[in-house]
Amino acid sequence: MKLTLSVIKADIGGYVGHSSSHPEVLEKAEKCMVPAKKKGLLIDYHVTRCGDDLQLIMTHQKGEDSSEIHELGWETFIDCANVAKKLKLHGAGQDLLSDAFSGNVRGMGPGVAEMEINERDAETIIIFMADKTASGAWNLPLYKVFADPFNTIGLVIAGNLHGGFSFEVHDVKESKKIVFNAPEEIYDMLVFIGAPSRFCVKNVYHRESGEIAAASSTQKLALIAGRYVGKDDPVCIVRAQGRFPAVGEVLEPFAHPHIVEGWMRGSHNGPLMPVAVRESNPTRFDGPPRVIAAGFQLAEGKLVGPVDMFDDPAFDNARQEALDIADILRRHGPFEPHRLPLDEMEYTTMPQVMKKLKSRFKKI
Ligand code: F6R
Ligand code: MG
Ligand code: MG
Repeated sequence: MKLTLSVIKADIGGYVGHSSSHPEVLEKAEKCMVPAKKKGLLIDYHVTRCGDDLQLIMTHQKGEDSSEIHELGWETFIDCANVAKKLKLHGAGQDLLSDAFSGNVRGMGPGVAEMEINERDAETIIIFMADKTASGAWNLPLYKVFADPFNTIGLVIAGNLHGGFSFEVHDVKESKKIVFNAPEEIYDMLVFIGAPSRFCVKNVYHRESGEIAAASSTQKLALIAGRYVGKDDPVCIVRAQGRFPAVGEVLEPFAHPHIVEGWMRGSHNGPLMPVAVRESNPTRFDGPPRVIAAGFQLAEGKLVGPVDMFDDPAFDNARQEALDIADILRRHGPFEPHRLPLDEMEYTTMPQVMKKLKSRFKKI
């Protein structure tokens, strides 16, 4: 059965500050999804949140970039932003950058990850959602899952994975894309994806079958708006089992937190901490950045689940390691590498401070 999986997300208001989401906002989103399922536009849906980001997980048969599905997402965010405004939540409607819907939510603020698939006999999917970070946060874990045999032993010993995967990489600043084949082109690919503030892995494909294996959101809010309006807080859909990596291989990169940009005022680096949904409330210095993972089996498009995949003591050490990294970085206060390089910071006072002090700078 041909099926599309769409994950559309937006921060439409935080509770308290930028740390979490209000239950009335989630209730409103559920209410918006019900009629869409009743009239058959959606096969199924699941509403959740990661920190202050509202997540709409939807299955349907309208294909990727469907204006009907995107409009449903957009209208849901508008209705939820109205609830947020009534409760005077923080930053109500912050990610909705346009006043009117024009056929597609891409470029309008919300993040989108979508994939059209032929549902397998057993279709296992994991949806990753992150808060307080940017789209490139998935580069390292996607590389490990689909190209690193030290993470994914299936690449070595499973015949149906041994042919490797290809990576579609987007240059988000120049709006260009390129496809790399792993394993033979990994050195070239790493030149780019090792710089995740500019190059993001958008899609991954199983080379022998051409089937989609992963899809991420690569919207850069700041680039869309031309000014800082919030962090991308990206999402990523990964298929697992069979000719794709096993669930355990998909989750394994998060057992050692990597450092991502996006902490406090979108201007700091911090560890990406894997947590249960209920623990995705970034409070310490507005962080550290969080990632949650919702696991589903699909049955004729029905979302059977979710299982809260990081709600597992097996990730306790990762959480502790993230806290240890957080302590080390926090000790740097306003210094790099905790603070981002000057041209990467989302908040800066540099222009006005430089203007004020210009005459005091002498040639050396
Ligand atoms: C939001 C974030 C937060 C805010 C900070 C200031 O994604 O990362 O750290 O940047 O709380 O927020 P405002 O400017 O909304 O008061
Ligand atoms: Mg927010
Ligand atoms: Mg957020």
